[in-house]
Amino acid sequence: MPLSPRRIPLPAILAAGLSLSLLSGCGLAATEGLRPGSNAGASADPSATPGSDASTSSSPAPSVAPSDTPGASQSGASEAPDASPTPSSATPSPLVTPPSLGPSDNNGDGTPDFLPTPSPTPTSTAPSPKPEPALDCSKVKCVALTFDDGPGPYTAQLLRTLKAADAKATFFLLGSQVKLYPQLAAAEARDGMEIGNHTWDHPQLSRLSDAEVRSEITRTNQIIKKVTGSTPPLLRPPYGDVTHAQRKWIDLPMAFWDVDTEDWKTRNTAATVASASAAKPGDIVLMHDIHGATVKAVPQIIKNLKKKGIHLVTVTTLVGGKPHPHVGYGAGLSPAPGRE
Ligand code: NI
Repeated sequence: MPLSPRRIPLPAILAAGLSLSLLSGCGLAATEGLRPGSNAGASADPSATPGSDASTSSSPAPSVAPSDTPGASQSGASEAPDASPTPSSATPSPLVTPPSLGPSDNNGDGTPDFLPTPSPTPTSTAPSPKPEPALDCSKVKCVALTFDDGPGPYTAQLLRTLKAADAKATFFLLGSQVKLYPQLAAAEARDGMEIGNHTWDHPQLSRLSDAEVRSEITRTNQIIKKVTGSTPPLLRPPYGDVTHAQRKWIDLPMAFWDVDTEDWKTRNTAATVASASAAKPGDIVLMHDIHGATVKAVPQIIKNLKKKGIHLVTVTTLVGGKPHPHVGYGAGLSPAPGRE
């Protein structure tokens, strides 16, 4: 009973009335004070270029790879040198050689020797997330710590903390931040953290057209896939703000929260420790790793929760391993009028 995560139909949340004054979660954090001045300009561009190119230039790629290697499957065998020894001069492959893949003909056989990967993945050296040790959160006490709006300057420190405590967490990333810090998003995945979609630049989805919402979600999914190798299994709408109509067509399961630490507002380590440590089994806790005071709070939060026999897991593990589309996990609003 209390151990099982709260599953609340989105209509229940929405029916409660989403006035802006009730919206919570992130404040204006996404646009305030998180750009590391030196990074925002110059160094963002190199990673930006392949990112934005990928979405436009990747379309021809899938048609190229399979056609010239009829026998080669996606298996490791196709990675052998010269998987396509018969040069087929008619293939249009030179036109689609992604610039980021480097020299296109190392083996000198006259054909580009990039492997039949469906899309260019310049920074996807990160392996897929390590599987989390199987925990049944209907049988043991679990809490899901979640961190929004990153990656950011404090993310590496947070990852060290989580690893040292053998704790898992879920990061809801902004696509625009992944563009600035692709290596940190990759590190999160490598460390076995769950990565969710928090839109590209943190708009209120209820104020956007369907096309704009789709773009917010899709662009973010694409850059996360490119950097981590996996598509996010969850969406957290900024401010918890999403309309009835949107939740009908958005196919990603949505993760809200049960405990809003309001860390973005207090920027106070002790207050964040107190708030997050009050989480009960089954709760999703909302925090933001773009704030130093929050990241400083996490070691003590973990200690306090572990002392109560609580396991720190991803949202997906908390909800039983397979979140369902069109379901909102966590009450989502603070105070939470939609709670059952
Ligand atoms: Ni946010």
